[in-house]
Amino acid sequence: MRHSTLRQLEVFESIARLGSFTRAAEELCLAQPTVSIQIKKLTGEVGLPLFEQIGKKIYLTDAGRKLYQTCSDVFEHFAHFETTIADMKGLKAGKLKLAVVTTAKYFAPRLLGMFCRQYPGVDVSLKVTNRERLLERLINNQDDLYILGQPPKEIDTVAQAFLENPLVVLAPIDHPLVNKKKVTLKRIAEEPFLSRELGSGTRIAIERIFSEQGLQPKTRMELGSNEAIKQAVIGGLGISILSRHTLALDAPMGQLAVLDVQDFPINRQWYYAYLSGKKISVVAEAFLSYLKQAPKHLTDLSCHHAEVGHCPLIHENKPSIISIK
Ligand code: PGA
Repeated sequence: MRHSTLRQLEVFESIARLGSFTRAAEELCLAQPTVSIQIKKLTGEVGLPLFEQIGKKIYLTDAGRKLYQTCSDVFEHFAHFETTIADMKGLKAGKLKLAVVTTAKYFAPRLLGMFCRQYPGVDVSLKVTNRERLLERLINNQDDLYILGQPPKEIDTVAQAFLENPLVVLAPIDHPLVNKKKVTLKRIAEEPFLSRELGSGTRIAIERIFSEQGLQPKTRMELGSNEAIKQAVIGGLGISILSRHTLALDAPMGQLAVLDVQDFPINRQWYYAYLSGKKISVVAEAFLSYLKQAPKHLTDLSCHHAEVGHCPLIHENKPSIISIK
């Protein structure tokens, strides 16, 4: 078998599939004697007949059937190899349009940065907007991929979780609840609350958490960004609930505390999503594989940046005072 060529296998596969030497010759644009010679050589290599002729029809022998199966496997592997090569070429000059919800801005640009270092030819764009706007973009198929805190029920998407997104209760460092253990949500609901704007995914999640316990937060102010909320918490305007990711890297030093509240942190997830039936690009596909390693990539990065002995993105169950440079 070692001397049989790919061409011989191709000829054999074509005859076996079409059940005819003539049609195989036509398909491969070869003269019929050439086809016969190739099969003769291949049969010599195998050492057993591959075809049996009964009347005008040809049939595969047992050895022929085994070889046919082997050919299918070999050609399938080749086809896969060819796709891989095409993908690799695509990654040299592809484009990636990513849209993420506001809170994902604390990690998505860093992930993108690392991805771009891996694929320097890839051109990326990043749109940051709140959940409501993001869903509009998703429906209109404006981007390759989306990152959000909860896959939309109302839109048919392919969505998968890839990273933890714990929600924590934040208060100023001198707040009376800072050293209390297992504070109830009912007690939290008595405090002035700082809420994200309408259309925010964080806000939807928080409203659900309160309403599940028949509670309502005492909203004192609505603010359009996580940054504004953190500053307002520090300023003593109220407490809030935000993703722990908002405390990464640029958290104001030692001025915010994460309260120890029953059932918190609430373990949400980050999801990627795209419209069902969308044929995603080679680059988008590569980014999705990359996202599967997101916890590792981000933990590595956070540890490099955090001066104190813990990583802000690593999930902690105990309350902590955030002190990050
Ligand atoms: P948001 O979304 O930034 O719009 O609040 C965050 C989320 O859905 O978790």
